[in-house]
Amino acid sequence: MRTEDTAIRRGKMSRVFHRLRESLQIQLLAWVLLTLFGAICINLYLSFRSADITADLVTDHTLLASARVIAEAVHVDAGGTVAVDIPPAALEMFDTGYGDRVFYQVVTAWGSLVTGFPGMPQPKIEQTGEDGNFRGDPVRMVMLNHPVVGLPNDGDISVTVAVTRNGQHAMRRSLWLSDFTKQLVLVLLAGLVTIIGLQRGLAPVLRLRDAVRDRGRDRLDPLRPDMVQSELRPLVHALNDHMERVQNQMAAQRRFVSNAAHQLRTPLALISTQASVAAREADSGRRDEALQALRGSTRQVTRLASQLLTLSRAEHGARRPRNDRIDLSAIARQILESHAEEALRRNLDLGLEAEEPVFVEGDGTMLREMLVNLVDNALRYTQSGGTVTASISKQDDVAILAVEDNGPGIPEAERGQVFERFYRIMGTEQEGSGLGLAIVREVVDSAGGSVELDEAAGGGLRVTIRLPAA
Ligand SMILES: Nc1ncnc2c1ncn2[C@@H]1O[C@H](COP(=O)(O)OP(=O)(O)OP(=O)(O)O)[C@@H](O)[C@H]1O
Ligand SMILES: [Mg+2]
Repeated sequence: MRTEDTAIRRGKMSRVFHRLRESLQIQLLAWVLLTLFGAICINLYLSFRSADITADLVTDHTLLASARVIAEAVHVDAGGTVAVDIPPAALEMFDTGYGDRVFYQVVTAWGSLVTGFPGMPQPKIEQTGEDGNFRGDPVRMVMLNHPVVGLPNDGDISVTVAVTRNGQHAMRRSLWLSDFTKQLVLVLLAGLVTIIGLQRGLAPVLRLRDAVRDRGRDRLDPLRPDMVQSELRPLVHALNDHMERVQNQMAAQRRFVSNAAHQLRTPLALISTQASVAAREADSGRRDEALQALRGSTRQVTRLASQLLTLSRAEHGARRPRNDRIDLSAIARQILESHAEEALRRNLDLGLEAEEPVFVEGDGTMLREMLVNLVDNALRYTQSGGTVTASISKQDDVAILAVEDNGPGIPEAERGQVFERFYRIMGTEQEGSGLGLAIVREVVDSAGGSVELDEAAGGGLRVTIRLPAA
């Protein structure tokens, strides 16, 4: 039980962390806080150094003042001996309440101790504070040379004063604390302002998110680019472009469905009428005629339905892309063979000129549908006695498939439009629904190829398809 609980809790935690990591606001905030933390650390060090230097300076001044007071009190008495009465003020100036001990020493130029603590360390440079150790305690000390009247050649005495460091450290601490507190307040203020700035800066992004999220399912009108800052406007433009594309696509889908329904309704109504006529007809010859017509209409609907199905399968993204290695020549041969009977019936010369083999990569079923539609068109729209030739060749890395006939062809102005769904050329007597070339284009597009219509040598139509050879 407990391990399960822990696992669940861990899962929840990791989700929370994941969400935190994903949040732009938190990422920016983390960077700001990291910078501020770095600034605080540097601050901590710099203000400590500065407090240390200041405390040293103040202590050194006091030490020097004390040494000067002691030196002033040194005199040579009537007997010619060097004497000194240490003025209490010289030592009282260190009485800061931190229990510091003061040491002093007065020494003549020839090295004899006049007064003070024997064995004290001597600073190397005069009038400059130096750290040292005396009687087991760290001390700060200063040395001063001072001329005394009455000494041989008015010689110098040297006064050294040292003090333990409690007061100095206390001073350093209080200087540092006050300095650091001030800087900390500044840094925190800067952090606060940054957080407010971040929130205000990100507010338009959140507004944009809400605007997109709270839209109705069908609302695709453009978003206002001025709702966000200039840097984010390209994103809004991209969103608007995308919504426009979706809108166009939805309109195309609606058109397609309504066209398909229309196309289906006409032959279905016809079927219903023909069925009623056949049912009512007493004369068996007439009834056979009506049934024949009924079968024709049924074929038409069936073909339309299968064209619709093929088109929906051929549509980009409708199927998992397949990369079979297909021999175009072999497919063409099979298709032409299956259309041979029809060609013979209509007295058409159906021929194949194919290099063997010509491989392409793609969906075999769809490539077959493409070729069926081209051959079907050529046979259907070419008058009897005409010629239909399919040719397959390979040039460098391109497989070229051409179907050409000597039928009526397609006027140049309409060559772009015939690829549209349900588009048929006015006056075409043959049955059909205008989906064949739309299927061809979808298949060619998904196979990464190109399709081109132009006039064949014999005056009919030539369809040329180029596909990447495998
Ligand atoms: N080989 C051709 N010669 C002359 N016209 C053609 C040829 N192929 C197509 N067309 C014209 O282009 C139009 C569109 O052809 P498409 O194959 O897309 O539709 P369809 O043949 O009318 O119907 P479907 O193929 O769906 O049964 C046809 O209506 C026809 O007028
Ligand atoms: Mg067709």
